Amino acid sequence: MIKPYYKSKDKNFYLLKGDTMELLPKINHKFDMVFADPPYFLSNNGLSIQSGKIVSVNKGKWDKSKDYGYVNDFNRKWLKHIREVMKDDATIWISGTMHNIFSIGQILTELDFKILNIITWQKTNPPPNFSCRYFTYSTEQIIWARKSKKVPHYYNYELMKQLNGNKQMQDVWKLPAIAKWEKSCKKHPTQKPLSVLTRIIMASTKPNAWILDPFTGSSTTGIAANLANRRFLGIDQETKFLEISKCRKLEIENEQTAELYRKKISGFNTKTEFNKYLKTEPKPIEKITLGFCRKKDIPSLTKTNKFYFHAIEQNNFVQDFPTEILDAKELFLYQGGRGKPLYFTGHSGKIKEIKLKHKSQIKRKENSKTEYYYEVTLKENFKFDKSNSNKLKPKILFDKKDKTNKELLRKYLPTITTKERIVKNTRLNEN
Ligand SMILES: C[S@@+](CC[C@H](N)C(=O)[O-])C[C@H]1O[C@@H](n2cnc3c(N)ncnc32)[C@H](O)[C@@H]1O
Repeated sequence: MIKPYYKSKDKNFYLLKGDTMELLPKINHKFDMVFADPPYFLSNNGLSIQSGKIVSVNKGKWDKSKDYGYVNDFNRKWLKHIREVMKDDATIWISGTMHNIFSIGQILTELDFKILNIITWQKTNPPPNFSCRYFTYSTEQIIWARKSKKVPHYYNYELMKQLNGNKQMQDVWKLPAIAKWEKSCKKHPTQKPLSVLTRIIMASTKPNAWILDPFTGSSTTGIAANLANRRFLGIDQETKFLEISKCRKLEIENEQTAELYRKKISGFNTKTEFNKYLKTEPKPIEKITLGFCRKKDIPSLTKTNKFYFHAIEQNNFVQDFPTEILDAKELFLYQGGRGKPLYFTGHSGKIKEIKLKHKSQIKRKENSKTEYYYEVTLKENFKFDKSNSNKLKPKILFDKKDKTNKELLRKYLPTITTKERIVKNTRLNEN
C-alpha cells in the first residue's frame, strides 16, 4: 500500500517519499497537469555569486554532474512513467537549462509527446557571471508539451491575455527570481518562485485539477496549486525537502496568509487581481459515481447511508491518496453491466465523505479476498426516485473508446461520470 508521507487536512496536498522512478509505476491516478523540475546535473564543484557572496554551485548528491548518456537514460525513464499517469488531455511542463533541456526535448519527441511551446523565463534579477568570460545567465527554459498529438489541451488564453495588458501572452516571461518572503520555511537550493508556477498553473488547468510534481523539492508547485484552488501530489526522496513542503502547506492553511501570498505573487497587473479572478473562475461539472448492487442487496442498502467499493488497484496496489472516486459528489446504484444492459435502480444519495478502509475496520458479511475498501458515507440514507431508474446499454454509457471507464468496470472499481452523461445516454437509448 502506498502511504503518503504527508496528507493535508483538506486532502488537497499529498506528498510521497521515495524514488520517483519506483513510485510512479505504482500510482493508479491520472493527473490533469504535471510540472517537473528534474535534476539539472550541474553540480560540478564550480562557483557562482549569490547576494554578493561567492558560493559553490553544488546543490546536493541528487544533482551531481553525470555524462550525457546517464542524463538521457534518467530522463527517458521518468518521462515514460509520467506518460502513464497523465490524462489523455493533460499537459506537462518541464523546466531546465542547457544542461538537460536538449535531452528532455529529444526524449519528449521520441515518446510521442507534442511540444507546444518553449517558454523562456527571463529573470529580472539574475546573479552576475563570476568568471566574466560568458554573458550573464539570466534565463531558464520551460518546455510545455501535451501527452497526445490528437487530443486537444486546455489553454486559458483570455486570462493570459489579460495578464499581458490585453495583448497575446508571449513565450518570454519576465518574472523575478525567488523573493525573500517565499523562503519562510527554510530554503531549498533550487526553489522556484511562486510567480512562475502560478502562471503555468493558471494557463493550463481548471479549478480542482490534479497536478503532479515528480521532483517536488519544497513543493512550489503544490503551494501555487493550492493557492489557485487546484490539488496536488508531490514526490521527493529527501525528508528535509518534504519537511519544507509540509511547513509551506501548513502556512497557507491560514486563509489570511494565503490571501496575503496571492497578493505578493508577481505577474499580475494589480495586487488583488489573482484573488478576484479565483472568486469568479467557473467550477467544473460535479461528478457522480455508480455503485454496482445485486437485487438482494437493495432492502438492506435502503436502510443505511453506507456503501462499499472494492479498492482493487493495478498490481494490487491500493493508495491512500486520491483516485477518481474521491471527486464524486453523488452515488447512483445500478445492476447488470459487463455485457448485460445496465439498470439504474433509482436509489441514490449525496456523498458526505469517502474513506479508504482496511477490511478489519469495517463490518462486512461478503466473502471476498479484497483487503481494502472505499467506504462511502452518504449525507442521508439512500433515497428512491423512480425517475432515476433507467435501462441503458453499457456500451453506450461506458464508451468503448473510453479506456478509463472500461478498465474501471473490469476491475469492479467505482465508475465516475457526470449526471449529464447519463441523461444524454438515456435519450440515446430511447431513440
Ligand atoms: C530541482 S529540485 C526541485 C525544486 C522544486 N521545483 C522547488 O521549487 O523546490 C529537484 C528535486 O528532485 C529530487 N530528486 C532528484 N532525484 C529524485 C528521484 N529519483 N526521486 C525523487 N526525488 C528526486 C531532489 O531531492 C530535489 O529536491
